[in-house]
Amino acid sequence: MISHFCCKVSFLRYHFFKMGIGMTDDKVRVSFPAGGVSWSVLKETMAEYSSLDIEWRDGRSPLFVFKNDAETEEIGRKAFFEYFNENGLGGSRAFHGIGRMEREVLAFGLDLLQAPKSGSGVFTTGGSESILLAVKAARDAFRSKPNAPQHGLNIVMPDTAHAAFDKASQLMDLDIRRAPLRHDKRVDPVALGELIDARTILIVGSAPCYPHGVIDPLEELSDLALTHDLWLHVDACVGGWILPFFKMNGRDVGSFDFSLPGIRSISADLHKFGFCPKPASTVFFRNSEDQERAKFVADAWPSGIFRTATLAGTRPAGAVAGAWAVLNHLGTSGYRRAADRLAKMTDSYVHDIEAIDGMTMWAKPDLSLINFGSETHDMNKVAAEMMERGWLTTLTRRPVGLHIMMSLLHEEPRERYISDLKDSIRASGSSTKTLTLQSTGYAD
Ligand SMILES: Cc1ncc(COP(=O)(O)O)c(C=O)c1O
Repeated sequence: MISHFCCKVSFLRYHFFKMGIGMTDDKVRVSFPAGGVSWSVLKETMAEYSSLDIEWRDGRSPLFVFKNDAETEEIGRKAFFEYFNENGLGGSRAFHGIGRMEREVLAFGLDLLQAPKSGSGVFTTGGSESILLAVKAARDAFRSKPNAPQHGLNIVMPDTAHAAFDKASQLMDLDIRRAPLRHDKRVDPVALGELIDARTILIVGSAPCYPHGVIDPLEELSDLALTHDLWLHVDACVGGWILPFFKMNGRDVGSFDFSLPGIRSISADLHKFGFCPKPASTVFFRNSEDQERAKFVADAWPSGIFRTATLAGTRPAGAVAGAWAVLNHLGTSGYRRAADRLAKMTDSYVHDIEAIDGMTMWAKPDLSLINFGSETHDMNKVAAEMMERGWLTTLTRRPVGLHIMMSLLHEEPRERYISDLKDSIRASGSSTKTLTLQSTGYAD
């Protein structure tokens, strides 16, 4: 047991030390290949490169990978490779099968999120792209109002809203205003309301937010949006495709979908808790004319009108086929089972962590993202000790905590994780090793 894993870990440590640059060999320059390398050699080399990977299949990565079960993964993989060569961009003109699958996936999402008949959606390559599209649509809707200011516009959002909104704001020259949280780590809607002004194009709530895994008070945000005639986007990139099943199972997760009248758009990632192959996300609009605003249209060049509903041009058709297959395979019964297992697993982690002297959950998770810390122990040192024991560790800074976005990959190793956590806490008392947020942030 010790041998293989420890060797690998010490090798990793040695490698990181030598490189001095974190996880990748990104300073190495190699010449353009002469070609002719056979598949068997390529495969072997790839395996060698990947030998430094974290053991994510054993739940040792706190983010990046999601899994329901082996059968779902295999169905997603097979469907993906059935459509390996086709292009999602040609879904309405060349690849009618992919076009039909995409329309069905979007219809499934509209149904699940209780969209009205006027609703429509877009299949994208990820949460960030879904968010970019919603922000673009909100900005253009705002600008189209009579006498609306065109510049110096802002987004008002919870302190915990995902950095993809910062990305959108940098691309679209918008300001970001982050509202403080309540004690339960959900945004304070009154404080958020106070940040709104005549140049606010959009307010945001998360279902749930990444740092604490809790759902913002969306009913209050919906009221706020209606009162101020503002666009409310719900970032359900994490929860969109699974929370409906938490709710069906009787878990108290509140309302997070179009049943709240102030919600105008929702992002929901298939490649997270939809358990579909990457890259796959969706963004839904209450009204199809809002989706039109998210589109990109250019007509100046020699090739005539260019129009895409996505930021990406060429898109992997395999991701569409994979999502369609997984959704049909799991369906309501499969997702309800997954939701039940996720909820029970999360409750067990929370129970075990809270039972450790000095450890506190910073919030009570609504889904399966946990964040915990301590008033008595140095979590940067605990994180370093966890890394020593082979757990890739992510830290948060407000407050300092260990963060895990758990999927069912984390179900089996719970006892090992908790036992290593206890050892790490003990060892941190006399340890000089520490991890900083810079080295453990959520970065590529
Ligand atoms: C709440 C939330 N929104 C958006 C995103 C961005 O998603 P993606 O990495 O697919 O672009 C994430 C990613 O973890 C997230 O947690």
